[in-house]
Amino acid sequence: MEKIIITGGERLKGRVGISGSKNAALPIMAATLLTNGVTTLSNIPRLKDVTTMARVLRTLGAKVEFREKELKIDTTNVDRFLAPYNLVKTMRASFLVFGPLLAKLGKARVSLPGGCAIGSRPVDLHLRGFEELGAEVSMGGGYTQVKRDGLIGAEIYLDFPSVGATENLMMAATLAKGKTTIENAAKEPEIVDLANFLNKMGAKIKGAGTDTIRTIGVKELKGTDYSIIPDRIEAGTYIIAAAITKGDIILEGAKIDHLESLITKLHEAGVEIEDEPASSTSTVDAEEASAGPPMRRRERVIKVKARRRIKAVDVKTMPYPGFPTDMQAQFMALMSITPGISIITETVFENRFMHVSELLRMGADIKIEGSSAVVKGAKSLSGAPVMATDLRASAALILAGLVAEGKTEISRIYHLDRGYERIVEKLSNLGAKIERVKQ
Ligand code: EPZ
Repeated sequence: MEKIIITGGERLKGRVGISGSKNAALPIMAATLLTNGVTTLSNIPRLKDVTTMARVLRTLGAKVEFREKELKIDTTNVDRFLAPYNLVKTMRASFLVFGPLLAKLGKARVSLPGGCAIGSRPVDLHLRGFEELGAEVSMGGGYTQVKRDGLIGAEIYLDFPSVGATENLMMAATLAKGKTTIENAAKEPEIVDLANFLNKMGAKIKGAGTDTIRTIGVKELKGTDYSIIPDRIEAGTYIIAAAITKGDIILEGAKIDHLESLITKLHEAGVEIEDEPASSTSTVDAEEASAGPPMRRRERVIKVKARRRIKAVDVKTMPYPGFPTDMQAQFMALMSITPGISIITETVFENRFMHVSELLRMGADIKIEGSSAVVKGAKSLSGAPVMATDLRASAALILAGLVAEGKTEISRIYHLDRGYERIVEKLSNLGAKIERVKQ
């Protein structure tokens, strides 16, 4: 087992490159099952969850090979429809093979994903949607089986804008007969990226990114090449790393419009965050300005300056475009060292405060009241041995460790490897005193 040791007190400075999005890569990898062809995906992050999804696809008969930042997936010989418990239990997103297998092979047998540290996380919305599409759903022995030779397009209403249910049902609808409408759909950027990928394979999807997604079923989808969006939660985590250390960093490769709610909250707290053209000159070049059409959106960077004292602000997590639940733990780490009182309310998951007890060990002053945490900014945090419980809680402990006095030792860092590519390297390049050691 390994642990991460951080000596707090360094202001982060410099440039950090943001990797491809974990939560776009996983559904898009599953979507390759909808074709009998070869797909090449780029900007794929090297993460444990991506490796797990590759294993799930191989179990189903696909050939998956990693190149530098590319992933080549050949689904020509996919003929198995069972996703086994030993893989699904390690990663809930394995459940995203359900929709593609049902649409392509007419049946699927997938282990129930089981809960995880942040809540029970049922899949009732997925299964109800499959039934609306004509599938027969049966459960037994911890597995769910769906079957239907030829799905029929339907009107589906999601009681909650579930990201996974929207993705699973949108994928299944691409090969269903006729039209499918998903109402109250999730609107996350990862849904839009998945829809763009599916349309590039030949699907007919409109409305992704709004709460109504319309799909007209087609006969078949073809393999294609595709580059996925950057990871907005990784980007948000580094923005908070700059804020908590009163640093001054530049993020490359992130998309600022995916981070609006987080940036609005950080502006309210007093953190300066701007996006500007990547070129050294920050003004539009003369010939480009005179060229008439609006300046091509060249690569842009996000600059974060946290010089000024920041103040506590309240936050309530909501489905996109609201404040992301995946940034709640990281924001709490920032508020635990910010003067004032911040009320942080978690509305998406029923148990996503596992990081609170560990932050308390570092001297934070946090009281949980139902689905809210009342965070009273402490003058300082002190380094301590702490334990990661889930992916984003681990990130919150790293952020607290960056600013705590003394050494913080974080164990169970396998949670971190699921969703943050080379985080120790990226943070040390920004000046953090951080290392990964064998326990
Ligand atoms: C996706 O999980 C993300 N994972 C999560 O990111 C993210 O926190 C979540 O969406 C919300 O934004 C991936 O994209 C791989 P949901 P998902 O279905 O699809 C309830 C991370 O840290 N629900 O939108 O599982 C569910 O219990 C991870 O990167 C039902 O009740 O999330 C939860 O309370 C963590 N029935 C809420 O909806 C269902 O059938 C949101 O779940 C489905 C969901």
